[in-house]
Amino acid sequence: TWTTTNVVEESVAAIREQVGTKRAICGLSGGVDSAVAAALVQKAIGDQLTCVYVDHGLMRKGESEQVEKDFVAATGVQLKVVEAEERFLSALAGVSDPEEKRKIIGREFIRVFEQAQAELVAEAGAAGEDVEFLVQGTLYPDVVESGGGTGTANIKSHHNVGGLPDDIEFQLVEPLRRLFKDEVRMVGQELGLPDEIVHRQPFPGPGLGIRIVGEVNKERLDLLREADAIAREELTAAGLDRDIWQCPVVLLADVRSVGVQGDGRTYGHPIVLRPVSSEDAMTADWSRLPYDVLSRISTRITNEVDQVNRVVLDITSKPPGTIEWE
Ligand code: XMP
Repeated sequence: TWTTTNVVEESVAAIREQVGTKRAICGLSGGVDSAVAAALVQKAIGDQLTCVYVDHGLMRKGESEQVEKDFVAATGVQLKVVEAEERFLSALAGVSDPEEKRKIIGREFIRVFEQAQAELVAEAGAAGEDVEFLVQGTLYPDVVESGGGTGTANIKSHHNVGGLPDDIEFQLVEPLRRLFKDEVRMVGQELGLPDEIVHRQPFPGPGLGIRIVGEVNKERLDLLREADAIAREELTAAGLDRDIWQCPVVLLADVRSVGVQGDGRTYGHPIVLRPVSSEDAMTADWSRLPYDVLSRISTRITNEVDQVNRVVLDITSKPPGTIEWE
């Protein structure tokens, strides 16, 4: 029978059997999935696990600090932080195709993990300290939507499934591969993770890189970060965090429209709000947010974010629209 206790016990046993006395690293993204996967693996193999947080420059405002503090405080896990903004942004330069972006980000993640692995081995010095395993918080829907399920077309290459390079040097440990998000949250609760982690809204591994329609660069990322922070602030202030599944904020960097702001004409970019409700992200409906909340978000974004002169609301369900725009 399916109980979280059984799932935890079985996963812990399976992880111990798979990893043995070797060492593993786990990429933390700040999201629920990687946090729960890491906590499970830590329960199974203790300090044979090192978590690696890759700051790829595609995170939202304040997010890196949060991962570094909250998760370590909650679990006491060993954490290695890798600053990789330049590396990711130069790999993404000039690329606007969504799948290409996803593949590049997936590949760079792995390359950074390999480098972290080499550094850890060098630090440990001794033989038999090999880091052979990479833990990932891959969920069942990630597998299905990346075309890994039976008979399903590839919708998007999730950064941790279809986005992986072929020449990967790790064996993968994916304890959540058969679970849905709500089950992952229950497992996280069972493992004693705090509410701020367990109830976090989903955020994709490729981060804001797939929320800029068009080329990704630092200036656009900074702009999107500001808009996203405002939307999140207002949604939280309105007490809506638990009502919505997630609310991607998207910058249409390749689209411009005419506006009138301050002294005159502007020719700026639109920001899209994509609030959705969902059970498992396989299907979703657009959230009927209160108009006053939407209005506050729109006013603040157009007033406070440079180069944005329009805010639009995405009222498409999934299907036909996916949750993320890319
Ligand atoms: P879509 O856009 O396919 O998204 O409707 C479904 C859910 O998955 C998240 N998502 C990702 N999560 N790596 C992740 O960890 C990815 O590459 C990725 N792509 C989409 C998305 O935020 C939504 O919750």
